[in-house]
Amino acid sequence: MTQLDYIKDLAKYGLENNQEKLVSVVNELIEYSKTTKKLNLAIELQAFVKEAIKGSRPNTLLKVGSPAYFRNQDERETDDLILQKLTSEYSFANLVCEDSIKERLSYFLQEHRSADLLSMYDLPISNKILLHGPSGCGKTLASYVIAGELKKTMVVVNLGAIVSAKLGETSKNLAKIFRKAATEDCIVFIDEFDSLGKVRDYNQDHGEMKRVVNTILQLFDYLPQNSVVIAATNQVDMIDDALLRRFDLNLQFEKPGLAQIKELIALTLKNGKFKFDKVKAANEIIKDAMGLSYYSIQKTLITAIKQSLFKHKNTSNTVRLQNLIDTSIWRSLIADEKKALF
Ligand SMILES: Nc1ncnc2c1ncn2[C@@H]1O[C@H](COP(=O)(O)OP(=O)(O)OP(=O)(O)O)[C@@H](O)[C@H]1O
Ligand SMILES: [Mg+2]
Repeated sequence: MTQLDYIKDLAKYGLENNQEKLVSVVNELIEYSKTTKKLNLAIELQAFVKEAIKGSRPNTLLKVGSPAYFRNQDERETDDLILQKLTSEYSFANLVCEDSIKERLSYFLQEHRSADLLSMYDLPISNKILLHGPSGCGKTLASYVIAGELKKTMVVVNLGAIVSAKLGETSKNLAKIFRKAATEDCIVFIDEFDSLGKVRDYNQDHGEMKRVVNTILQLFDYLPQNSVVIAATNQVDMIDDALLRRFDLNLQFEKPGLAQIKELIALTLKNGKFKFDKVKAANEIIKDAMGLSYYSIQKTLITAIKQSLFKHKNTSNTVRLQNLIDTSIWRSLIADEKKALF
């Protein structure tokens, strides 16, 4: 489905007054926006859906002021602070990175797998990770890998909802999320962490920002051993030093070098259905691709595969050509990508 298809469906079901179908298309569009990295759109749409559901909730009798009333209210508020709750099928095999990063990450996982042994000797378990580096180089992917390897649920924090204009509210929201993580034994993932941990932000009240940083410091210090917090940012310089020191693991993701690009290609073509028409040309393009992110390289390769398929579909010797990636297509896609970025 393209964005236009979603718009058509939205118009159709909206005009038909088909609430159920409309909500389901909006939910599909939210997922689509997440995969196409339009996170802000996803957040806004999710807020619309939540509002609509709230409005249509049947009026069950609930005694105002009763413990159930407060519990209900608290849960609903915490739910609003969560962008997504997910389990992951990702494993180490899905992530390409330098060996040193892999080693440190796998050591971190080992600590969690050996939690019983460590606690027997009163040894602390590392549970706060900071992932930083340029866009499209695997920070979010690495968080999925951790969730998948540890088989834990991951709560993706909705920063749009956490950061509040109301004084003191951001700190309260953070505390709610951490409380949830502690009781549910899950991973908390805070993307764009710099917007919380900034040293200063000219658009915000400095005192409030300081308060937020102090809250995070405290929450980190009292984080239960079984909880895991993963923070990601591509602006690590903006994060307060005291906060930086609190992370047990600080992993810097880099753009891929030659070896990593080759590994990424092998991973992307792993089902063996496709290969390059000209191996020498492909090797040249790999060199040309240096400087681009994993995301850009993978995206152009997948587009090249699709365009090659369409091109070969109309030629006579279809069977022979079908599985070949036209390197000239990939070359021009990589060139376009570089032109757009540099
Ligand atoms: N190191 C990597 N190994 C394998 N695939 C990668 C890697 N980095 C990125 N990709 C591919 O690119 C996609 C996007 O990467 P990801 O979302 O992890 O980037 P990011 O570092 O979180 O970027 P941003 O800062 O924009 O959030 C991944 O889902 C994956 O398909
Ligand atoms: Mg990311």
